[in-house]
Amino acid sequence: MSQSERSGLSEQGQATGTIAIDRFRPEDRPAIEQLYRRVFGHDAQEASRLRWDWQYRRNPNNPPDGPQIWVARDEARVIGQYASMPVTLWVHGREIPASWGMDVMVAPERQRQGLGELLFRTWDRHTGASLGMGLSEASYRLFQKLRWRDVGPIPCLVKPLTRRALRRPQWSMAANRFVSWLTLPFVRIVGRARPLVAQPEPFRRFDASFTRLWERVAGRFDAAVKRDATYLNWKFSEPPAIRYSMAAVRDAGEARGYVVYRHLQEPRGRVTLLVDLLADPEETEVVQSLLAWVDREARANDSDKIRTFAMHAGFRKLMRRAGYFQVKSTLQFAIKINAIELSSEFFQHTDGWHFTLGDSDQDR
Ligand SMILES: CC(C)(COP(=O)(O)OP(=O)(O)OC[C@H]1O[C@@H](n2cnc3c(N)ncnc32)[C@H](O)[C@@H]1OP(=O)(O)O)[C@@H](O)C(=O)NCCC(=O)NCCS
Repeated sequence: MSQSERSGLSEQGQATGTIAIDRFRPEDRPAIEQLYRRVFGHDAQEASRLRWDWQYRRNPNNPPDGPQIWVARDEARVIGQYASMPVTLWVHGREIPASWGMDVMVAPERQRQGLGELLFRTWDRHTGASLGMGLSEASYRLFQKLRWRDVGPIPCLVKPLTRRALRRPQWSMAANRFVSWLTLPFVRIVGRARPLVAQPEPFRRFDASFTRLWERVAGRFDAAVKRDATYLNWKFSEPPAIRYSMAAVRDAGEARGYVVYRHLQEPRGRVTLLVDLLADPEETEVVQSLLAWVDREARANDSDKIRTFAMHAGFRKLMRRAGYFQVKSTLQFAIKINAIELSSEFFQHTDGWHFTLGDSDQDR
């Protein structure tokens, strides 16, 4: 809790008083909750309160001195925060400490005075790599202004399962019905069930063989969040407000690949979200079987479509073969790596990067 930064904002004539940015203290919780409600609204604050302890206090990648949350204060008043989710990043064959930035906010009356920039820079100075996913317009512009690399958006893929899958909220009901009727034969072909090559099995907790799976396949990826069993259990088995389903293909008890998914109701129909997956992208049969498992689960839950976000070109190719289509994505992804030197070429070729909706906290 020792790092504290005094701002020279008043030098720019944009703010008065002395602003300090330092680490979160447990007694800040009420003031932060109040600010969260003002900036993001009551419902978002309630949702945040439910997951806060899990998300920030119980993250297994936290440093010993607790959650990595930066708080901006004007004297004693909390006027902004930058929270983060520490992860270990596998990048270019090395592990480095990294963190996803999230729940960044500045009090409405203090916005556009340089405080956001100060919070971003403070967070970035204290991590080996700073990562941002699924940004608001304001934070996306700020990442751009500060010259984070824009390597997104993370491609979105959809597999239609019923004719309702192609409904658009901006079309009238009559237009939606007509398109549904017109596209039915096509949906029947792409949405058909594929045979399972290997038999995935559902499970609730990740055992040590998932750590070995990660160790075996990490070398296939140029960049990815390290997915060992401790991280995976925290991320997908233990969240308080979301219940994920998981299934894995095993070989003599050893995990060869897994999928994490859930079903939800959206205004225009039911969706199965394929939130995360891991396998050797070269092990086609394993990936195909996992995708076929998700198809069956989606159908059994009456979903109209499956939606996923996948950056790795190998996984996307297998998804397209399984009936997925790439559609417009709004899942922005910005990254800055501080711990090691990397050429700009590294950031231009992202086909070997493995990032999904399950990274960061976008599925909540
Ligand atoms: C995002 C946020 C934290 C930025 O804080 P801030 O103190 O206003 O940011 P700064 O004053 O340092 O702004 C720096 C740059 O960010 C961008 N920016 C900030 N607010 C913006 C807005 N409303 N629209 C577009 N760009 C914006 C601009 O590039 C700006 O540079 P400029 O002022 O030279 O044009 C603040 O706008 C906020 O709390 N927004 C609501 C919550 C939110 O969207 N959080 C992000 C969730 S991902």
